[in-house]
Amino acid sequence: MLLHGTDALKEAAAAGHALPGFVAYNLETVQGITAAAEAAEAAGLPVLIQAGSSPFKHAGRETLMRLALDAAARSAAPLGVHLDHSRDLDEITACLDAGYTSVMVDGSHLPFAENIALTKEAVRRARDHGAWVEAELGALPGDEDVSTDAVASSGAMTDPVQAGEFVAATGVDALAVAVGNVHGFTKDSARLDLDRLAAIHEAVPVPLVLHGASGLPVEELHGALARGVAKVNVNAELRRAYLEGVRVTLPSALPGSDVVSLWAAGRDAVRDAALDVIGHLTPRVEEANA
Ligand code: 13P
Repeated sequence: MLLHGTDALKEAAAAGHALPGFVAYNLETVQGITAAAEAAEAAGLPVLIQAGSSPFKHAGRETLMRLALDAAARSAAPLGVHLDHSRDLDEITACLDAGYTSVMVDGSHLPFAENIALTKEAVRRARDHGAWVEAELGALPGDEDVSTDAVASSGAMTDPVQAGEFVAATGVDALAVAVGNVHGFTKDSARLDLDRLAAIHEAVPVPLVLHGASGLPVEELHGALARGVAKVNVNAELRRAYLEGVRVTLPSALPGSDVVSLWAAGRDAVRDAALDVIGHLTPRVEEANA
């Protein structure tokens, strides 16, 4: 079923949990994420399918929107459908019109005042559709679709004071932060600036979002959950699992040109990788503080 509103996000924030936002590119990744959400329903943690913006380049916007919305609506598990990293108000409007439950407007590349203006407009449009909005302040290094071994120091960390001003000025529902996190896998494990994260949490009244969670040590992740992070984005770990599933199955699929077994292997690998992540997102709060 489609998950509307910010209640789940706020409940996760209050409990020291985080909703996973898993990036989907195609039918099999949508299926794998949905299957994981169904298997994890008992954990009481709704899942967000992040269908677009960048994956639209592969699947086509209409096709991927329909796939994700249909899978979420038909599932017995609560699933949000979220637009990730969009810089384009027309694209945001198209997703809101289609029925997305949340969108991320990414003005992190813009000067502060312009990021505020873009985000405010996205919030205005989303309110008309009953959807919620995530924005970003600070710049996360790395590529959204390919691991580049980016280093955290090449980004710009989120400033806690600016973060407070930004949320007050925009009315945004969730804020993605740059605190040492990186898109994709890194050579050395990424380390988060947890003091900065705590200061942002103090300054900002809305749940925080951690992008670039792939490859992050579990203790770093739990440290983030204890400091206001209530949504965690994961992509590269699912991509790697998909490719590994396909690689292992390819030799037995080749003789009979059995593409279905290959796609199924990719789908199941995505499901299992997503379930692994979900298992780390409901730590007991006292553990996270240890
Ligand atoms: P990773 O690829 O590092 O998991 O990052 C995903 C992400 O932040 C999507 O917005």
